[in-house]
Amino acid sequence: MKVGFFGTGNMARAVGGALAVAGHEVWFGSRDEGKARGVAAEIGHGAQGDGNDPVAQACEVLVSSIRDVPSAYLRATDGLDGKVLIDLNNRDFPREYHGDEFLQSLASAAQRDVPGAKVVKALNNQAMEVFNADAEALRSAGIQGFIAGDDADAKDVVAALLRDIGLTPVDFGALSNAWLLEVQADILRTYLFATGNLLATPALIDAPQAAPRFGERRKGTY
Ligand SMILES: NC(=O)c1ccc[n+]([C@@H]2O[C@H](COP(=O)([O-])OP(=O)(O)OC[C@H]3O[C@@H](n4cnc5c(N)ncnc54)[C@H](OP(=O)(O)O)[C@@H]3O)[C@@H](O)[C@H]2O)c1
Repeated sequence: MKVGFFGTGNMARAVGGALAVAGHEVWFGSRDEGKARGVAAEIGHGAQGDGNDPVAQACEVLVSSIRDVPSAYLRATDGLDGKVLIDLNNRDFPREYHGDEFLQSLASAAQRDVPGAKVVKALNNQAMEVFNADAEALRSAGIQGFIAGDDADAKDVVAALLRDIGLTPVDFGALSNAWLLEVQADILRTYLFATGNLLATPALIDAPQAAPRFGERRKGTY
């Protein structure tokens, strides 16, 4: 697929590079076209660079790695109409936490900003270093990629892209759940800073199977 990135920073390079290796036509978008072309040349695998607006027009799937709504960095947002827009952003970290902001996800703000786009929250819970490993290594390790969005077809597209770079997609439901994934990133980053471990992912790893030692589950809560 033609996958375009808004921004040419850490995540754009890491995820864009992984998608380019997987055979996708990757476009890097930047405020500075020369910078975008330089990043594309660095990544190789046929990647190309241009301004953010031409990339929005040219690509079928867009990935926002800019911590703002599209109208803040695009001259015109109509190029996103009907297209999948992956939002992988998290709020600044560390930061002060305010309970009332938890429910206001960056992904929902993006969706309100570009109602014609199909926003999917994904890829915000893997540090860029996770993609140092290739797709086969990530697949073997069972690394999961959680996604939330309102359009089933858009989520299928994103799930396929995640599989291509070695992640096992897990459907976290509607876009209104995106705040859960953004809070999950706060938990993950708190852990990263506490331990220095950049490779931790929030994969839901099963405990070993065993017979009940203290009786079966009875009616109750989860
Ligand atoms: N780094 C990680 O490991 C990681 C993991 C998961 C999620 N995230 C999230 O991903 C997002 C990007 O993180 P990152 O580490 O890739 O950041 P980054 O390296 O700073 O890249 C962000 C890019 O956005 C563009 N940009 C910045 N300010 C802009 C503005 N005012 N207007 C237009 N474009 C602007 C810049 O590209 P140009 O200069 O080319 O325009 C910049 O390179 C953040 O929301 C972060 O929380 C990061």
